[in-house]
Amino acid sequence: MKENLLDKGDYQGNRRQEHRDHLSLQELERQIQSRWLGSSLCYYDKIDSTNLEAKRLAASGLPEGTVVVADLQESGRGRLGRNWASPAGCGLWMSMILRPSFLPVQASMVTLVAAMAVMDAIEEVSGVQVQIKWPNDLVAEGRKVCGILTEMSMEENRIRFIICGMGVNVNNDCFPEELEQKAISLSMLTGKKLSRAKLAAAVCRFFEKYYEDFLVRQNLGGIKNAYNARLVNRNQKVVISDGAGSFTCVSEGIDETGALLVRREDGTRQAISSGEVSVRGLYGYV
Ligand code: BTN
Repeated sequence: MKENLLDKGDYQGNRRQEHRDHLSLQELERQIQSRWLGSSLCYYDKIDSTNLEAKRLAASGLPEGTVVVADLQESGRGRLGRNWASPAGCGLWMSMILRPSFLPVQASMVTLVAAMAVMDAIEEVSGVQVQIKWPNDLVAEGRKVCGILTEMSMEENRIRFIICGMGVNVNNDCFPEELEQKAISLSMLTGKKLSRAKLAAAVCRFFEKYYEDFLVRQNLGGIKNAYNARLVNRNQKVVISDGAGSFTCVSEGIDETGALLVRREDGTRQAISSGEVSVRGLYGYV
């Protein structure tokens, strides 16, 4: 089933964004050729948030593999209750509906699967090698290129559905002042305008591959080494913050559950699970 719930060519957002490529349902349909991811495709010129829309669609019964893409998000959502700037014409704002049979406790691993998929897709489409800032950011030149927000709906101890949303800064030539030092786009890194539909297609293809491996193993053993090889700040000091405070430690890499293994200043080792935690380098965002 392909759906086009709103495809009216309604471009809004920042006029200074010079690099624009046209996103449409037709272009996404042409590019996305993965086996099950994107077999149901919803495109909007404008939506509040693709994660929110994917949740509504999942609750109304749309199947696993449904992909929701928007050109503009009016209320893009980030981790830890933050907003996600999502202007028209420059980003890939995309969410996927998954209906796995694994346990709710395993759901956070989907974020790491998605990070690997987007990383490979970015490299294939743009040639840019990004690094991963555990658990869910992709960074280049010390700034954020992509963020991932995975949300779950449960009943009793079973997953009803998971929504995995990714926001990639693709063709932005500028960011709001408060993000200028923190965010970067693929076009800023390459000097080229890139096709968001091609990037969406590559993300779907790589996600299918890594997600299927994860389903078979029920852990991240298949991507652990590749993930760790691209982990920013690996074997360096980082500051871990949660609701209770923060502490400095050395980041050693993820284990097969996706937890970050760290060595504290007193030499003890600890596995940090993603939850409501943020990790920073000693001197800033990365
Ligand atoms: C973060 O780094 O805080 C996560 C950002 C996730 C942004 C994406 S854009 C597509 C999807 N829809 C949303 O509202 N959020 C995610």
